[in-house]
Amino acid sequence: APRVLSGIQPTADSFHLGNYLGALRQWVALQDSHEAFYCVVDLHAITVKYEAEALRRRSKVSAAQLLAMGVDPERSTLFLQSHVPEHAELAWVLGCLTGFGEAGRMTQFKDKSSKQGADATTVGLFTYPILQAADILLYTPTPGPGERVFHVPVGEDQRQHLELTRTLAQRFNHRFGDTFVAPEAYIPQGAAKITDLQEPTAKMSKSASSPQGIIDVLEEPGPMRKKIMRAVTDTGSEVTFDEENKAGVSNLLRIFAALDGSSIEDLERRYEGSGYGQFKKDLAEAVLDTFGPIRERTQKLLDDEAELERILARGAERASAVAAGTMDVVRERVGFVGRG
Ligand code: TYM
Repeated sequence: APRVLSGIQPTADSFHLGNYLGALRQWVALQDSHEAFYCVVDLHAITVKYEAEALRRRSKVSAAQLLAMGVDPERSTLFLQSHVPEHAELAWVLGCLTGFGEAGRMTQFKDKSSKQGADATTVGLFTYPILQAADILLYTPTPGPGERVFHVPVGEDQRQHLELTRTLAQRFNHRFGDTFVAPEAYIPQGAAKITDLQEPTAKMSKSASSPQGIIDVLEEPGPMRKKIMRAVTDTGSEVTFDEENKAGVSNLLRIFAALDGSSIEDLERRYEGSGYGQFKKDLAEAVLDTFGPIRERTQKLLDDEAELERILARGAERASAVAAGTMDVVRERVGFVGRG
């Protein structure tokens, strides 16, 4: 079967609706047709300010949420990035193939570093996309006969990092011989960029949004309903899709359509003349129908930490087997002496 790989940072106590619709829902679906590798990228999470104990807790909660959403450890490989040291090792090699200016053109780095200032910005944040390229390319399908397609399910904001990954794969192949398959971003139609409920022109984001702007997967029903009812709309009352003049309503329509499978036109017709209130109420129920069961399952999984650790250990073992094979080839091709 063709392979997929993706990663998510354990930087909050809960994933949010943007993560779910932009990426995680596709992770679950792709398991039916692909051999999947899904990684909680804890090395990426230390590129910004953090607390060690919070990181440890969040890595476990992240893994539990992925399982609760339907990532199936029998069919797929779910693991923590820090359990597989080859990620950091390949990142070093790829970093030596990346131009300083090239890395400096990454817009996520420019956004984050301009908000923090140069001295608060770590070198790790600068090289972050190179580590991401390593995450992906370690699991590249074996070149030669067989699958040449390699998908990476992500939201719209990861497009540029995926382009860099492709460039580095091609550069390595050109210089050292065919080794990596250049991966393709697998970005969903419609829900690739979910925006902030309070600031509907900005991306819903763990680092930038206020709590009122984010819908957390693990949120309690009461506060969740309130947030949706208070989502910024506009002074009108028509539930119609108009990105330019009605960014808030358009975002809610996109979310609703993605969750309930209706088209945006269907929803416009369903809520014609009924105002924003009923629309938001129904949207809140749709969100709760999806996240309620995930929240309960996550809680259960966290109650049995030993089992969670067993699942992650098995995932690390399977991921290591693939990563070690790729690194053997890489070390040889770049000119390192074998250990014999
Ligand atoms: P991260 O942890 O920020 O986000 C995880 C996934 O959620 C998507 N996403 C969104 N999609 C739609 N609307 C939003 N508002 C929204 N916010 C986040 C992201 O696009 C992502 O798919 N660099 C990656 C993590 C990473 C990775 C990888 C991904 C590390 N290594 C290898 C793929 C492959 C990141 O920061 O995701």
